[in-house]
Amino acid sequence: MTAPDPVALLDELVRGRRSVRRYLPRPIPRADLLAILDTARWAPSPHNTQPWRFALLTRPELKEHLGVAMARRWTADLTADGLPPEAVEAQVSRSRQRLRGAAAIVIVSLYLGDLDQYPDPTRQAAEQTMATQSLGALVQTLLLAAHARGIGACWMCAPLFCPDVVVEALHLPRDLIPQALVTLGYAAAEPPARERLPLAALLALDD
Ligand SMILES: Cc1cc2nc3c(=O)[nH]c(=O)nc-3n(C[C@H](O)[C@H](O)[C@H](O)COP(=O)(O)O)c2cc1C
Repeated sequence: MTAPDPVALLDELVRGRRSVRRYLPRPIPRADLLAILDTARWAPSPHNTQPWRFALLTRPELKEHLGVAMARRWTADLTADGLPPEAVEAQVSRSRQRLRGAAAIVIVSLYLGDLDQYPDPTRQAAEQTMATQSLGALVQTLLLAAHARGIGACWMCAPLFCPDVVVEALHLPRDLIPQALVTLGYAAAEPPARERLPLAALLALDD
């Protein structure tokens, strides 16, 4: 038997992943959820500080509780933006339905406690930016780890807009800064691939 070609495998995983937003009403085995998080933690981070923490939610009551808390803040924000009440209601209830429909939710938070300390604010800000950047690597690794197991996922930015609400609703430690929410579940349908810019359009310099 020949060993699988790692380049082909990786390419297939990366190119075949989709943001899955509608799920079947089917739970994900806990072992799979933990295995996904276990793989995600191998993402690179500045000085290997691993400035991330997870909150894993599977209980419907807890997902609902988080959904209600975030919806309250989002409703206030959209109303203050001047959006008509029906439009606010439509957007917020669609988002709540997404949380309800997911078999599991992972909240990814930034933890700054182990970052290097600098005497000047410029380098300190760069250190924090690095930590935030590494969260992106973590989430992408998580998405791929789910996809490799046949589990769909979608990265949602909602916690970024209301980190205090998420900490409060889930009783998370106060030193965590929620940055992302990932819904997980078995896809109800295969979403179409979204176009990418051609490589030539991305090469600002190719010397
Ligand atoms: C930082 C970030 C935030 C995102 N936030 C949301 C979101 O709040 N809701 C959503 O439906 N998709 C969200 N997405 C998913 C993107 O819309 C999606 O990755 C993009 O359209 C490409 O589609 P694909 O993932 O299926 O290739 C987010 C993606 C990233 C990287």
